[in-house]
Amino acid sequence: MRAPKAKKGRGGAPPGLTVRLSGRVALDAQADGRIIAQVDGYSFSVGNFTAAAAKRARALRTGLPLASFASAQSKADREIGLLVRRLARQGLVEYGLRRPREQDEIIAVEPQIPDYWPRARELKNTDVIVLSRFAYLRRRGNDLVLESPRADALFKITDPTIASVLALLVTPRQVKRLRRQADFPGMVFLGLLLDCNILFTLDAAPGGNLRSLEGGNDLALWDFHDLLFHTRSSEGRHANPLGGLYLHAGAVPPLPALRPRWPGKTIDLDGFVRADVDPISQFTKLLHERHSTRAFDARRPITLAELARFLHRTARVQETFENTVDLGDGGVRVGYTARPYPSGGSGYPLELYLAVDACDGLPRGFYHYDAGDHALTSIDARAEELEAVLRGAAFAMGSSAVPQIVMTIAARFGRLSWKYSSLAYSLVLKDAGVLTQTFYLAATDMGLGGCAIGIANVELFATMTGIPFHVEGPVAQFALGRGMTRSKNETAP
Ligand SMILES: Cc1cc2nc3c(=O)[nH]c(=O)nc-3n(C[C@H](O)[C@H](O)[C@H](O)COP(=O)(O)O)c2cc1C
Repeated sequence: MRAPKAKKGRGGAPPGLTVRLSGRVALDAQADGRIIAQVDGYSFSVGNFTAAAAKRARALRTGLPLASFASAQSKADREIGLLVRRLARQGLVEYGLRRPREQDEIIAVEPQIPDYWPRARELKNTDVIVLSRFAYLRRRGNDLVLESPRADALFKITDPTIASVLALLVTPRQVKRLRRQADFPGMVFLGLLLDCNILFTLDAAPGGNLRSLEGGNDLALWDFHDLLFHTRSSEGRHANPLGGLYLHAGAVPPLPALRPRWPGKTIDLDGFVRADVDPISQFTKLLHERHSTRAFDARRPITLAELARFLHRTARVQETFENTVDLGDGGVRVGYTARPYPSGGSGYPLELYLAVDACDGLPRGFYHYDAGDHALTSIDARAEELEAVLRGAAFAMGSSAVPQIVMTIAARFGRLSWKYSSLAYSLVLKDAGVLTQTFYLAATDMGLGGCAIGIANVELFATMTGIPFHVEGPVAQFALGRGMTRSKNETAP
């Protein structure tokens, strides 16, 4: 049940674009023909190349016109093309654009997803274009950057006149009118922004609500800040530092584990929790026994029966019903479900996807949990994608072995944003937290082990499912399996 995904054509080379190594990369040509890339303190081989290609690759430090090798006429062209694509796939190159017939660069294009390749969409003079409501300009260090959570690349603006062109595009304009502007940055510039969804085209006679004209209903339901928060706080659609990197450790001391006490009068509560007054219940025991498990027993994987019971206890649909939402001018019938955990507005936007490495009775693979029918549906994901989910979870847990099962908690975002303005995405995350604790408690109760995982890759999930990242996407993960006996003082990595 893999939905087809539109393939991005590699296209030719937009004129005026140069490619260069991004600032954190250095290339080193070895005597045996290997080219080694050095990035942020680690190095790896990009492949074997001839001496002629290695010599030409030196120009990648300052910039090599894309058009100079895109035709792939000579062997050296083909080699440089291969080298650039290999570097591009890892986000290690950026692109510079000049205005037609001028020398100064007007923008630098920084890829945000691993397989970005610059493509300038064709535009006609009669096309009407407008700025996306998701596009924004901000200061980053000493740079002005144009970004969008929908864009596969970020645009660093080095020519301030670009800002005035963008300002004109807050209302729909015909391309031919823009071309008359003194500082018109060129059609390649517009084509690159269009390809990155920073601009979009409208039918010739603009009118109507721009929000509903951009990207269809699924996108219309998103608030700007929610889509930005979703893409920037997960992995896959940006190139910013991510995870426990302690970036502020040198500059700011860590906050204390306990909040400093308020100065007011203190009421001691300890006397109320004596064992004779409040005997320990089964539930309290469960709460206290709950802990994160990061090492799983490879000899005794979780069984399909245990998994079925775990999902039944935590996530199955218990009841379906409808309610009428009264919007003043007539009611809308809305379907609802009841499930074992609470959900904001009874929306239940969360879906479970299981990457299974080892489960007795269930083949290794990728599955969707159908909470309505209490069934698993197999999804035809590629082996390397399944491995990437499992390995990513192991990495996040600081473990060398992959967990038996990684449950991805994904959200159908529109389920909540149809109703809630401004807080839809925050409700999704709160729901994910509620479900996570439900998983922890059920796992403890069943003698299984689990661990919440704070990171999820939205782009990988989109590739595995074929669903656009703004329609349904991962917001949390949970590793599940039969744990090894817990070592003392186990802490988070
Ligand atoms: C939202 C959330 C995200 C977490 N992400 C990770 C993670 O990525 N890797 C990991 O090993 N543990 C993760 N944990 C588990 C915590 O590290 C763990 O709950 C904490 O250290 C307390 O230990 P305990 O769960 O054993 O009581 C996460 C927990 C939560 C609630």
